[in-house]
Amino acid sequence: MSNKFPLTGFSSIAIHSGHEQDANYSHLTPIYASSTYVFDNAEQGMRRFNGEEKGYIYSRWGNPTMTEAEEKISALESFEVKDKNGEPIKLKTILHASGMAALSTLMLGNLKAGDKILTHFSLYGGSQELMEKVLPQLGIEAIIVDLRDLNKAEEALKNDSKIKLLYLETPANPTIQCVDIEKLTKLGRQHNLIVAVDNTFATPYLQQPFKYGVDYVFHSTTKFLNGHGTAIGGALVGRDIEHMEGRMTKVHRLLGGNSNPFDAFLLVQGMKTLEVRMERHCHNAMEVAGFLEQHPSVSKVNYLGLTSHPDHYTATKQMIHPGAMLSFEMKDGLDAGKKFINKLQMCVRAVSLGTCDTLLSHPASMTHYGVPKEKREQYGITDGLIRMSVGIENIADILNDLNRSLP
Ligand SMILES: Cc1ncc(COP(=O)(O)O)c(C=O)c1O
Repeated sequence: MSNKFPLTGFSSIAIHSGHEQDANYSHLTPIYASSTYVFDNAEQGMRRFNGEEKGYIYSRWGNPTMTEAEEKISALESFEVKDKNGEPIKLKTILHASGMAALSTLMLGNLKAGDKILTHFSLYGGSQELMEKVLPQLGIEAIIVDLRDLNKAEEALKNDSKIKLLYLETPANPTIQCVDIEKLTKLGRQHNLIVAVDNTFATPYLQQPFKYGVDYVFHSTTKFLNGHGTAIGGALVGRDIEHMEGRMTKVHRLLGGNSNPFDAFLLVQGMKTLEVRMERHCHNAMEVAGFLEQHPSVSKVNYLGLTSHPDHYTATKQMIHPGAMLSFEMKDGLDAGKKFINKLQMCVRAVSLGTCDTLLSHPASMTHYGVPKEKREQYGITDGLIRMSVGIENIADILNDLNRSLP
């Protein structure tokens, strides 16, 4: 962090960390739209290449606008997190073109043919497909169990010494299930596993997996970190600085999933308001969940803030608020789901999540349209299920739109 004055609050750090005084005294770090950087002479080029002199070389490797975003993410994920000796932890973030690019660097930088991943059955569809359709071709397999049951995780590890990486997504997309980061990380440590957490739904404001000793956190910055739906992006955050600066930086540069200064600029501005946005998102989500729970056309509401959610306790343990994501089931199934979503006037019909505006999707007619009913129902995606990313509009307007659209 460049700031010399000690900052104590999450938002102060979100706003000021990573910012370096610009050479032209620009208030905000400009969008450095330059693919390459100039050397005064060959000797300087040599010093930069061999790391004797700090400085940018080529934007696939790094760029000042991207650096500010990376340093902010490291500062937020490590905010008030201490190591075993009570010292503040240090993290290194590598910004990527998308969440999937960051996940690819994580997997390809750490695993080789014959290695296995242990993960939960409810995951973002893209992450699941990477593990089912791409990694197996490289000889890397995923073992999928219900990680909410620690006995099942232990049994899988006892039976398979090839498991090298424990991959957690909590809360998970789209079911909003949670797994226990602390207990699973402890178990992972006993088996010498690398532990990685997708922290996209929670953000470092609500949940900090590094508190429990995980090795990596990964984000789709496309969502709450950007917060405004203006750019696709991803971040890989690691606690082993040497490994991040060595092997992982090499893999990131060679795979070429780099971010760009325009998207990084948007991300930097978005992250400055993360705390205030998340407070409002979570407040609104709780109100929406309460309203839906009482509504006669809704048969079930899945929200971590409700005691009826099976993972309510786990969420309370590791998140400061239950987040902005919820889903609910319409009593009358597919047609009711379609009719409801078509009637919305202010809330937006779209996939993705984490934006200021409220987004709703109907998986059975959208993301999971091509998936056979029996298969999607195994993952809890029923005909009438609606997924909702609750925005930060005034709550009365969100509730009014839902009320006039529900039968
Ligand atoms: C939880 C989660 N992880 C990862 C991703 C992938 O991120 P991206 O779309 O930025 O590649 C998504 C995308 O929706 C997601 O929801």
